[in-house]
Formats: sequence, C-alpha cells, structure tokens
Amino acid sequence: MLIFSGLSNQPLAINIAKQLDRKLSPLEIFVFPDGERRITIEEKVLGKTAVIIQSTSEPVDTNYMELFLLVDALKRSGAEFVKVFMPYMGYQRQDHIFRDGEGVSLEVIVGILQGVGVSEFFSFDLHSIKIPELFKIPAHNLSALPVFAQKIEKDFSKDEIVLVSPDMGGIRRIKKLSEMLSVPYVTIVKDRDLNKGDIHDVQLNGEVKGKIALMVDDIISTGKTMVYGADLLLENGALSVFAFATHGVLSADASVILEKSKIEKVFVTDTIEIFKEKNFPKLEILSIATIAADILKNA
Ligand code: R5P
Repeated sequence: MLIFSGLSNQPLAINIAKQLDRKLSPLEIFVFPDGERRITIEEKVLGKTAVIIQSTSEPVDTNYMELFLLVDALKRSGAEFVKVFMPYMGYQRQDHIFRDGEGVSLEVIVGILQGVGVSEFFSFDLHSIKIPELFKIPAHNLSALPVFAQKIEKDFSKDEIVLVSPDMGGIRRIKKLSEMLSVPYVTIVKDRDLNKGDIHDVQLNGEVKGKIALMVDDIISTGKTMVYGADLLLENGALSVFAFATHGVLSADASVILEKSKIEKVFVTDTIEIFKEKNFPKLEILSIATIAADILKNA
C-alpha cells in the first residue's frame, strides 16, 4: 500500500504514515498562474493499492479538485485500487433539499468520487450516518469519540460532569459517548433560520445544575451553536462549560467568538489542519492519527 497526500492536511497525513512505519509517496502538485493544478505521480504504482489522504475543508473546491486530479493521475499510472481517506468531508451538510430549487451537493460529490474511479472511501464523524449509503463503493464512517473519551477520562472526574449534545442532530453521538463513559447526558434543542443560518432559540432538556458541562458536536463552523449552548448551560446552573467537536471548520470569526465566549476550553481533532491565523489560546487539538492508522493498516 502506498500513501499519498494532497495539500489540505499534510501534518496529519505524515503522522498517519509515520504510525504505519511508512513515508508519504512523492508527487508533484504544480499550480499554474491561472490557478489550475497539474498532478504528477513520482513513484511506480502499477498494480498497487494507493491511499490518498485529503480533507476537503477550506478552500473546499480547490481541495476537492486536487483530490479528483490525484485519483485520476493514480488510475492512469496503473494503480489497481485508489482509496480515499478524507478525514473531513466538505459539502456533507448539503445532504438533502432543504428548500425548493436547491440541489443536493453531497450527491454530486459522491458521484464524482465514484466517477473518477475511487474504490473505497473513509471519513470521520460524518454529519449523517446515512452518508455511506449514498456510495456504491465501500464507504466507512469512523468515529473520533474514543479520542474524546480518553481525554475526558484523563482530564475530568466522571461524577462531576454531564455530557451535552448542543443540538438534536447529535443525539446518537452523545448517547454513544455516554455509554462509553457511563456518564449522563442532556440535550439542547436548537432552532435555526434555514436562509441565514442564524440560531433563533435554544432550549435545554435535562439538568446541568452543579455540573461541569461537556458539549460534544461533529462540527464547529461559525461557533454559534457552542456559544449559545454554553450561555444556556451556565444560565441553568452549570459550573463551567467545555466544548468538543471532531471537525474544527472554524469559519468566519469563529475563533474570535469562541475565545471571547464563556467556554473554558475548546477541543477539536486534527481532521482539519488548523492554521496559525485560526488558532486561539482556548483551543486544544487532539489527534485521530492512531485510529486512522489502525484502519489503514488493513486497507
Ligand atoms: C449542525 O447540525 C452541526 O451538527 C453543527 O452543530 C453545526 O454545523 C455547527 O455550526 P455552527 O458552529 O456554525 O453553529
């Protein structure tokens, strides 16, 4: 098996390769003055299995295009199987028609991945557990929950905490973590304006008084879900609030609002590379590399 990486998250790709006792295979990604890319595979791949590690975070379209071209270059160079390991999958939230006239962007992406010849797909904490079903090739939805469980066991005392899903979409996730840790959970009901994405209202189901509240979500994008959630939890008597999310999308001024918020600390994983300008003092990055390497060693 050979491991290739696009440019979106090379530190993670290097870390995964290292855990597998391998090096990333060489390739050239040349960017023309007009922004087009040209990919050249610089290793013999004939008859081999190639794994590409590429997150499709910001710049989403550029990272997708780079991935498609990389798959094509590998196929044309004779790789027998090209497997895509996409720690964070862009467009996954556009998984159905929310309002008349919209397309289903996620289905477009799945169609292209299969069309260019991907033979197997891996990702982490997909927004909907139904996403793998959209693929006709094997598709796997891995979970970062063991990383969070380990961190929580290390940093917190179980009888002092309560887990919180900051919206109803995360109920399956929070139940699973609650079972893993034997810690109770509560949920927040979040009402969002579908046009602008603004949050109208948040309501708490359950008791958090006197507890340290740990919110757990799949994605932090604008950060508003976590910030509204934290305020609500503190209003309801939580002693302090911590936030965990697999994917630190951190769009717009999320880093600023999270740093200024009442949240004590924000934990995300390295499915998305957090560049210097988006990092902030309250942020701690946990790694999914070991889970990824464990899966890929049998790929
Ligand atoms: C929504 O359904 C997701 O699970 C996240 O809660 C959402 O993407 C977070 O978005 P934001 O950080 O913009 O509130």
